[in-house]
Amino acid sequence: MYKLFFQLVFKRMDPERAHHLAFRWIRLAARVPVLRTFAAAALAPRYEELRTEAFGLRMHGPFGLAAGFDKNAVAIDGMSMLGFDHVEIGTVTGEPQPGNPKNRLFRLVADRALINRMGFNNEGSAAVAERLAARRPVFRTTVGVNIGKTKAVPEAEAVADYVKSTERLAAHADYLVVNVSSPNTPGLRDLQATESLRPLLSAVREAADRTVTGRRVPLLVKIAPDLADDDIDAVADLAVELGLDGIIATNTTIARDGLGLRSDASLVKEAGGLSGAPLKERSLTVLSRLYARVGTRMTLVGVGGVENAEDAWQRILAGATLVQGYSAFIYEGPFYARAVHKGLAARLAASPYATLAEAVGAETRKAAQ
Ligand SMILES: Cc1cc2nc3c(=O)[nH]c(=O)nc-3n(C[C@H](O)[C@H](O)[C@H](O)COP(=O)(O)O)c2cc1C
Repeated sequence: MYKLFFQLVFKRMDPERAHHLAFRWIRLAARVPVLRTFAAAALAPRYEELRTEAFGLRMHGPFGLAAGFDKNAVAIDGMSMLGFDHVEIGTVTGEPQPGNPKNRLFRLVADRALINRMGFNNEGSAAVAERLAARRPVFRTTVGVNIGKTKAVPEAEAVADYVKSTERLAAHADYLVVNVSSPNTPGLRDLQATESLRPLLSAVREAADRTVTGRRVPLLVKIAPDLADDDIDAVADLAVELGLDGIIATNTTIARDGLGLRSDASLVKEAGGLSGAPLKERSLTVLSRLYARVGTRMTLVGVGGVENAEDAWQRILAGATLVQGYSAFIYEGPFYARAVHKGLAARLAASPYATLAEAVGAETRKAAQ
């Protein structure tokens, strides 16, 4: 039914308008107790065997919503109601900003992909922190807070901008993500070079420890799929050295390799980050490489082209403890997260592994033998 609705309604609308409309419905539904209770009972993960622990946090299941969908933390309960067990809000920047001019989001339907150059449109760290502080959660959801650089802030002052966001947001975050991998903020991805990344991650760690007492906020870094293999290794080594809790692989790509000839050529040429099915292979390769490098010394989060339970299972076998999705939610609709959790439970039951944790990295370990 959703697919028919997508073809008849969403596909004919401007993608960003369709996003806002769907988002409004989700938020509305989450405000009506009977609707949200019914939806959560039908969609939320409830498989004992999928219970997951990641960086000291207990979760009902491994699958969550990737950053960028709920940039301002307005729909955490709504997304949780739809079965995403963790919700990564943001990217939030130090200061509010409008993002790039529209049009900035494009659907490549035949390729089950999106291209976006949103440019971190968000209300800024102060407003989002205030919203999170006032939040009265209905569901127990793990909330990740993804932070990035304000466009107007010069690159030389990037660290201070991330630190400002950390000071405001860390107390409200179950885990914190330093995003240095979106292709739509000029210079941002240069921060992935270890000489820039080292002071940045150290400063964010220090700011989180200074502002949050009584617990250590897990800190992760999110990387691009376009890094060369040596650079992936360098980030992995640095993350281990700095005692980071995890790495999220990957953000969108500036490459256009995975696209077939199906999509409209003028859309393919749009500038921005490509996500969805064409990103699948590269994201999986980056994840396997990271796991081969860091093993169990930190938690890996697999994201990029996860369309279904089989894709999520492959990420787990490659080394991911948590898996996320965004683009496939647009194409698959409200039953996406449920289908992933349900299919994962079936795959685990049919596998030789007694627990999900045992399956994490099993394929990558096998390949290394
Ligand atoms: C419209 C759109 C906006 C996004 N915004 C962000 C963002 O603000 N911060 C971020 O870290 N990732 C952002 N992403 C990247 C996703 O979190 C994810 O890493 C990427 O889309 C790959 O996953 P997917 O193939 O399941 O979409 C965005 C993706 C899309 C499609």
